Amino acid sequence: MDNYKTYDLQSCPQATFESWLAKAQDTDKTPEAMTLSTLGPNGEINARMVLYKGREGEKWAVYTNLKSQKAIDLLSNPIAALTLWWPGLGRQVRINGATEQMEREIAKEYFHTRDKNSQVASYISQQSSPINSREELEEKFFKAQKEFENSEVPFPEKNWGGFWFTPEKYEFFIYRDFRLNDRFLYSRPDEDNGGPWEIQRLQP
Ligand SMILES: Cc1cc2nc3c(=O)[nH]c(=O)nc-3n(C[C@H](O)[C@H](O)[C@H](O)COP(=O)(O)O)c2cc1C
Repeated sequence: MDNYKTYDLQSCPQATFESWLAKAQDTDKTPEAMTLSTLGPNGEINARMVLYKGREGEKWAVYTNLKSQKAIDLLSNPIAALTLWWPGLGRQVRINGATEQMEREIAKEYFHTRDKNSQVASYISQQSSPINSREELEEKFFKAQKEFENSEVPFPEKNWGGFWFTPEKYEFFIYRDFRLNDRFLYSRPDEDNGGPWEIQRLQP
């Protein structure tokens, strides 16, 4: 039988993920960056980087503009895949799961903890919509920066928020010599009845 402990593999995949993420803090820049792949309303696949912003219980938090392509996708198809790659560690994590829009109050609370200039940038950006020039974008930014110099940046009620991502399947991958990589798949066949996570080794 495999010695899963070799790579801090724990019976709970979230615990494994957090132990790997903690390790990656020492080896990689921005280890919380992950590729979020979504399914668009017309069946197209879209992928882009987002940041892992912690979790509430099993649900992972991701923040974004609610008019962006990713939000359009997640609102029409509430499923996603996340991929993290830590070159310094030589490890990859892939996760599939279900998504839902985050409660407005939680998103709002998080918004106001952000750096003020990031709040201003989110306030003025119609993310994923075209704009004529960099100058136009900066003009909007500096105008709002001045406007809210001595006051709170209003929470962009209509176009900013968060999504929860609930992992349903994880794969933990370790780069090895000769491409004889180690891969461990966590799945939960009896999830509906609160069944345990099962771990399988996959061929490279
Ligand atoms: C490392 C990294 C982290 C990012 N994190 C986020 C994020 O947490 N939320 C976000 O909306 N965009 C983030 N972005 C920008 C997105 O990759 C993307 O350009 C933007 O969200 C628009 O994507 P969309 O048009 O597919 O919605 C990040 C980009 C990089 C390179």
